[in-house]
Amino acid sequence: MSMGSFLLLLLCFALAVFVRGQIQTGFISIDCGAIENFNFVDTDTGISYTSDGSFINTGINKNISADYAYPSNPTLPLPLSDLRSFPQGNKNCYTLTPTAGRGGLNLIRASFLYGNYDGENKLPEFDLYLDVNLWFSVKFKNASDIVTTEIISFASSDTIYICLVNTGFGTPFISALELRPLNGSIYNNESGTSGSLILFDRWDIGYLNGSGRYQDDIYDRIWSPYRSSSWDSISTTSGVDISGNGYRAPPEVMKTAARPGNGSESLELYWTSTDRNSQFYIYMYFAELEQLGRNQSREFNVSWNGTPLFGPFIPRYLFATTISNSRALVGGEHRISIYKTQNSSFPPILNAVEIFIFKQSNESLTYIEDVDAIKNIRRTYQVDRTWMGDPCGPKNYSWEGLKCSYNDSNPPRIISLNLTSSSLTGGIAASIANLSSLETLDLSNNNLSGTVPEFLEELPFLKFLLKGNHLSGLVPAALLDKSKAELLTLIVDDQNLCTSNSCKKNKKVIVPIIASVTSALALLVILIIIWRIRRKRISERAASNEEGKTLASKERQFTYAEVVNITNNFQTAIGKGGFGTVYLGNMKDGTQVAVKMLSASSSQGSKEFQTEAELLMRVHHRNLASFVGYCDDKNNLALIYEYMANGNLKDYLSDTIYMTMLWLQIEPAHTLSWETRLRIAIDAAQGLEYLHHGCKPPIIHRDVKSANILLSESLDAKIADFGLSKVIPGDGYSHVSTTVMGTRGYLDPQYYISQRLNEKSDVYSFGIVLLELITGQPAIIKTSDHIHILEWLRPMLECGEIKGIVDQRLQGDYDVNSVWKALEVAMACTTPTSIQRATMSLVLTELKECLAMGLARERATRPKDGDLL
Ligand SMILES: *[C@@H]1O[C@H](CO)[C@@H](O)[C@H](O)[C@H]1NC(C)=O
Ligand SMILES: *[C@@H]1O[C@H](CO)[C@@H](O)[C@H](O)[C@H]1NC(C)=O
Ligand SMILES: *[C@@H]1O[C@H](CO)[C@@H](O)[C@H](O)[C@H]1NC(C)=O
Ligand SMILES: *[C@@H]1O[C@H](CO)[C@@H](O)[C@H](O)[C@H]1NC(C)=O
Ligand SMILES: *[C@@H]1O[C@H](CO)[C@@H](O)[C@H](O)[C@H]1NC(C)=O
Ligand SMILES: *[C@@H]1O[C@H](CO)[C@@H](O)[C@H](O)[C@H]1NC(C)=O
Ligand SMILES: *[C@@H]1O[C@H](CO)[C@@H](O)[C@H](O)[C@H]1NC(C)=O
Ligand SMILES: *[C@@H]1O[C@H](CO)[C@@H](O)[C@H](O)[C@H]1NC(C)=O
Ligand SMILES: *[C@@H]1O[C@H](CO)[C@@H](O)[C@H](O)[C@H]1NC(C)=O
Ligand SMILES: *[C@@H]1O[C@H](CO)[C@@H](O)[C@H](O)[C@H]1NC(C)=O
Ligand SMILES: *[C@@H]1O[C@H](CO)[C@@H](O)[C@H](O)[C@H]1NC(C)=O
Repeated sequence: MSMGSFLLLLLCFALAVFVRGQIQTGFISIDCGAIENFNFVDTDTGISYTSDGSFINTGINKNISADYAYPSNPTLPLPLSDLRSFPQGNKNCYTLTPTAGRGGLNLIRASFLYGNYDGENKLPEFDLYLDVNLWFSVKFKNASDIVTTEIISFASSDTIYICLVNTGFGTPFISALELRPLNGSIYNNESGTSGSLILFDRWDIGYLNGSGRYQDDIYDRIWSPYRSSSWDSISTTSGVDISGNGYRAPPEVMKTAARPGNGSESLELYWTSTDRNSQFYIYMYFAELEQLGRNQSREFNVSWNGTPLFGPFIPRYLFATTISNSRALVGGEHRISIYKTQNSSFPPILNAVEIFIFKQSNESLTYIEDVDAIKNIRRTYQVDRTWMGDPCGPKNYSWEGLKCSYNDSNPPRIISLNLTSSSLTGGIAASIANLSSLETLDLSNNNLSGTVPEFLEELPFLKFLLKGNHLSGLVPAALLDKSKAELLTLIVDDQNLCTSNSCKKNKKVIVPIIASVTSALALLVILIIIWRIRRKRISERAASNEEGKTLASKERQFTYAEVVNITNNFQTAIGKGGFGTVYLGNMKDGTQVAVKMLSASSSQGSKEFQTEAELLMRVHHRNLASFVGYCDDKNNLALIYEYMANGNLKDYLSDTIYMTMLWLQIEPAHTLSWETRLRIAIDAAQGLEYLHHGCKPPIIHRDVKSANILLSESLDAKIADFGLSKVIPGDGYSHVSTTVMGTRGYLDPQYYISQRLNEKSDVYSFGIVLLELITGQPAIIKTSDHIHILEWLRPMLECGEIKGIVDQRLQGDYDVNSVWKALEVAMACTTPTSIQRATMSLVLTELKECLAMGLARERATRPKDGDLL
């Protein structure tokens, strides 16, 4: 094959991907139960389906029985041949992230085919929920019955939960799940956002041929053929203009219509509803298909059960119009009559019709701050339960271990959290303080360690149980005071307040501390004892620290001669940091390391060196550069880290490498994709979050910048360079006064002015790094007047111009909503006053959502290479 034809082929391929990507933008098409990472294009519809692994992590994959599958059933749509079933948990939810985000209008379709997948030949019944509101009760007529239900609804948050609820009549399952974004200006009469429309019927009237689905219908609605013996079909071969409104019923559907067989009679539609309170909305589609003469006319009125609905109406020639009722049609029997007016010389027509049942959303999502807090707790403790969907809703199906208060006008609140015997480790999660309505907290019988935090005091009427853990240290005085005033009940465990043997004899005196401790004398005794224990503990800890230090140091200490050997006499310099040069080295076992030599000239550096060495020995996290060892041999100081093959983020983002690649005509394949950038940001955020919230006492890095974020071969990011880090004494909510240090461009302005450091200074610097990832610009942009990235951004942000902001090298290949959200996160990190800035935990949650949005788009728009073949 010649180069030319190869390129042409490549171009066609790219074009095909592009066209399909364009059309299916925002589609989420899930073949539930498909084998992992299985993507395919359904040849009947041209729709690309993905397996469901990234939308749900519970349930098991099953195939329907061969009796119901292909080839026994040759017309079975491929996505229905397998399914995901949920034998465990009352509520299992798919999490969808539609591109339009919160407030976007979506059509969601769920399909179910039992097909005796479990060999039990017993038809299950279960409920389907959209977020927290009942959508549909799934029932089957027989094992080959395909049940499909469709709902049109505004997204009440950035993510949508589709939940299957076990009502005790069999194991829930699902075969296919599809989401299509709609134009938000349609289907939203009267009801607005207070409810959803559930499809009752959708008919292509006078249907002749055609699939009546995607790719004819850009929204992928399925139009079923409908004919009546008393009707005549009419059709045209001309095109019908559907651009008149947002409904865009496909031309294939609009090109056919029906009129009454007897021209003087009316066109009647009739349906009944078992629920007399059902509220119906009907959308009728009209387009004139016959070329009328000068003195011919077609004009008609529409009535419902004899009362006029609208009219007189004259359909426009080859131009689609949609008519719907503005007030719900309520009743058991419904008769729509379309009849000609006196002046009309032609009978009435109807091209297509959709009938929906409106369902009021009578339950609301859990209070958003409670949701964020409980999700943080889920993440911190890796809670091993089927915690899916909304925490409190639907009513009676809250997450296991939660109790919520339900109130008609307000969102549900979490009032009780019971995580007893759940193998929790680590400290008491700070996010618990954000559950501001919490009244009961049971964390008993876990492996929790650390201290009893003071923030618990802020929660109202708290009863909490902490026994059966390994908590140590002091019970905060504020809690004791509240307990004394009978404002809370505190049940803690005895041994755990003290870890050393010497404390044991005192244990019975402290515990249990219960509300009934009312006497001031008792309190005084307790406080004195606590004070004595603390004094003892402090001296003990100091002693044990000495021990630990020397032990760890010996294991990781290298002599200068060894360093010379490792670096092959300082052969390869790979970087120059603030305190010296970094060399590439090889350990005896062949692992590559980076060796940072401390330059002898900087006297100040020596102190920083010690800070870093001590810190590195204490912290371990996969997003912090791992520490191999150090050398403190006479005047030679060196730190040895794991080697990160892709260098630092700053170099990676910088234009010079990119330009060189272009110049050498090498495809700059290393241009970081949007999703990779988000992953790097998430990695770095995790590292920082660990320093801030996972370390006791917390650590402030003080020099967060892209040059200090290192990238491994697989582009995992780690934070390095702890030279300036500062340990915050006490609880992490305080600050320390220090000499201002950091790097220009990343330095928190408030810290610079006040010289008071707290962890929000790192958040600011991280925000700048995030902006670098989004824009590809350095923190200080080297135009003629060296402007700061925030200054550069401001005018563009103000006019909402995202194109100019995002790194041009991404060539538009990103999900706009994801980028906007990331920008919002960056702005929330870089507010001038630190109190308004987000915490790293929140930043992390938000970034993960950005990534999910980016990935959803990637899945929807980028079919696998094999798909086209
Ligand atoms: C379902 O069938 C497919 C293809 O025949 C097979 O690869 C897959 O393993 C089956 N899945 C289960 C859960 O049996
Ligand atoms: C199953 O039910 C559907 C829908 O009512 C019906 O069309 C079909 O004939 C039934 N199939 C069998 C095998 O009974
Ligand atoms: C419908 O299909 C038949 C045969 O498949 C074809 O002859 C006929 O022209 C089609 N009609 C329309 C309106 O497309
Ligand atoms: C949605 O429909 C309205 C009204 O028909 C139209 O003006 C608007 O451009 C449509 N929006 C999109 C995104 O297609
Ligand atoms: C058409 O309907 C009118 C009114 O219902 C009736 O009088 C007339 O006989 C009908 N014509 C035919 C051919 O059925
Ligand atoms: C239009 O109406 C007039 C009288 O009402 C009639 O004479 C004439 O034939 C009609 N023309 C057509 C094209 O039907
Ligand atoms: C609601 O229905 C009324 C009457 O059919 C119509 O005039 C109005 O434009 C509709 N509103 C929306 C937002 O579709
Ligand atoms: C059609 O509706 C209009 C306005 O609602 C009314 O004036 C007219 O009488 C109706 N025509 C018939 C034939 O009912
Ligand atoms: C019927 O049509 C004539 C002429 O087009 C017009 O003058 C008259 O008002 C129309 N009558 C009705 C009830 O619309
Ligand atoms: C909401 O409505 C459903 C039935 O549509 C009912 O089962 C449920 O109890 C209602 N919830 C509330 C909070 O009223
Ligand atoms: C927490 O749950 C366990 C068992 O699930 C129960 O025994 C305990 O009483 C609960 N705690 C509270 C405070 O209700």
